[in-house]
Amino acid sequence: MTERPKSERPKFVTPKGRPPARRKPAAAGADLFTGVRPPASPKTPYYDPGCTQCPRLAEFLTETHHAHPDYFARPVPSFGAAAPKILIVGLAPGMHGANRTGRPFTGDYAGVLLYETLHELGLATVPESVSADDGLELRHVRITNAVKCVPPENKPLPDEIRQCNAYLKSELAELKSVRVVFALGRIAHDGVLTAEGLKRSRFGFAHGAEHALDYKRVLVDSYHCSRYNTSTRVLTPEMFKKVMARACEIAGI
Ligand code: URA
Repeated sequence: MTERPKSERPKFVTPKGRPPARRKPAAAGADLFTGVRPPASPKTPYYDPGCTQCPRLAEFLTETHHAHPDYFARPVPSFGAAAPKILIVGLAPGMHGANRTGRPFTGDYAGVLLYETLHELGLATVPESVSADDGLELRHVRITNAVKCVPPENKPLPDEIRQCNAYLKSELAELKSVRVVFALGRIAHDGVLTAEGLKRSRFGFAHGAEHALDYKRVLVDSYHCSRYNTSTRVLTPEMFKKVMARACEIAGI
């Protein structure tokens, strides 16, 4: 069959007799083909590098910045996989660790056992986290803190923990891939429950405890891997590896 010249071909019209509308470019953030936007993010972003909502912590960061101009001295962002299966929740940046380097548990003693264990289990490319640009990568794991700014004497106040909980809540809501939330210490454990709107009285903290947060996520507790806990052997490398390995098992890693 010979093809008709273009000018003689019937025009493609819609049932209402109008030519079909041209496909509009997808709106920002929407799926390229379906045009569907993902559900709106929670109002609070899960990291705000300029947050000054806790006056005491904001002032302390300013003082730290003047005393140590080379320190990161800002709220410390979380670090690791973008779509993790395990979200590790620590307490708060250490003064000369995360607050200096800008990466959680990096540059002070608190991270030694954590990164060694992650490496042993195949979750970190190297056993030591030295600085934010050392090239270390995490697999299936992301690390965040219940409080993003370094607190004086490593002790955030209850109001500061509450204020910062909005960020943890957003992070938990956005990371849909998470199967295990791994709490390092009681403050992280309580922070996760608050973020999830769950009653603390129903979920006791204990090393190795497992709590269903919902039908797909489990909260696993561990003692914090602080210098105090590891040097007093409240937390041994074996204890820590066992509970982290269990988290991997639950997460299907
Ligand atoms: N460094 C962190 O980033 N978090 C902690 O909980 C302790 C040290």
